[in-house]
Amino acid sequence: MKKIFKWIGIVLGSLVGLILIIGLVLILIGNARLNKTYDFPPSNIAIPTNEASIADGKHRAVTLCEGCHGKDLGGIEKWFNAGPLGMVDSANLTAGEGGVGQEFTSDEDYVRAIRHGIDPEGKPIFMPAVNSTSHLSDEDLGALIAYLKTIPPVDRKTSGHHFTPLAKILFVAGVLPAMPAEVVSHETHVTAPERGVSVEYGEYMVNTNDCRICHGKELGGAPFPDPTIKIITPNITPGGEVGFWSEEEFIGTIHSGITPSGHQLNEHMPWETYKLFTDDELKAIYMYLHSIPKQAQYTP
Ligand code: HEC
Ligand code: HEC
Repeated sequence: MKKIFKWIGIVLGSLVGLILIIGLVLILIGNARLNKTYDFPPSNIAIPTNEASIADGKHRAVTLCEGCHGKDLGGIEKWFNAGPLGMVDSANLTAGEGGVGQEFTSDEDYVRAIRHGIDPEGKPIFMPAVNSTSHLSDEDLGALIAYLKTIPPVDRKTSGHHFTPLAKILFVAGVLPAMPAEVVSHETHVTAPERGVSVEYGEYMVNTNDCRICHGKELGGAPFPDPTIKIITPNITPGGEVGFWSEEEFIGTIHSGITPSGHQLNEHMPWETYKLFTDDELKAIYMYLHSIPKQAQYTP
């Protein structure tokens, strides 16, 4: 009898030991991935000084960056705060105390962050939007950087990302998404299609505005990217409800947050910022969404 207990003890003890070792190895792999240093050739993007380009950069910042960096672009503390996983502050994009305007020493530092998802030291940043901003053309990125350099300084110290050992394990196991620097294309130069109401420009708008981060790569719907929010986003290909909407109904939905069937879109769909897109931008998005292959609604 005693022998059996001894053996059960040895087996259980070994199992616990094995699990601890696997956990430790995953944490070490996670640390190595989070601290990896990247290097990319400089883009030497021209930073314009004319008013039209700066206004253009402002339009992009208002429709894309403010949602996560705050109305004053001074950063949001605890932008992502999931106790057991850790927390992330979004950065202060101004030249005030604690802002990137003081930390960054060259225009390339902006390009590295926004196009490649790395900080001035070459380490990956946890900014999911890089999956979109990596598609911004040299011209659009230049205009955006030009605008960022004109915004009023805000004094706010933010402290980047802090992940717990559990988050690192889930990250290596693929439950949490990869760092953008690990997955985006890292082109040195990017061009955009000509601006206008076209399928091509609509595709550019969709690629640069986070739609795929929430609605899935093929836009057929997906689990919400923040794992603490348990919702599935809708299919926005012609296989979903949007496929039956007229252009007017689509624009009306983004302007009002209410769909043609009377459903009030919840706050997880950023229509309040998307309503600031111009009508031509919305028409182009509509054209693109109606041109892509039908997908079935994603279900878990
Ligand atoms: C979905 C949310 C989100 C959006 C949208 C977003 N950001 Fe960020 N951004 C973050 C977070 C979170 C961080 C902090 C990342 C970290 O510390 O690892 C960050 C960090 C940064 C940094 C600092 C990098 C560094 O080295 O410290 C810059 C610059 C930046 N963002 C620019 C922008 C610009 C410009 C836009 C608009 C085109 C934008 N971001 C849109 C969430 C976002
Ligand atoms: C941060 C996540 C997020 C992003 C980014 C996002 N969406 Fe959504 N979207 C949602 C959610 C969640 C819903 C469902 C809201 C509801 O049903 O209350 C939704 C709903 C919609 C709907 C209504 C669909 C229907 O059948 O009712 C449309 C259209 C839409 N999104 C288009 C877009 C477009 C175009 C983009 C990019 C410009 C985009 N979304 C970006 C989360 C997002």
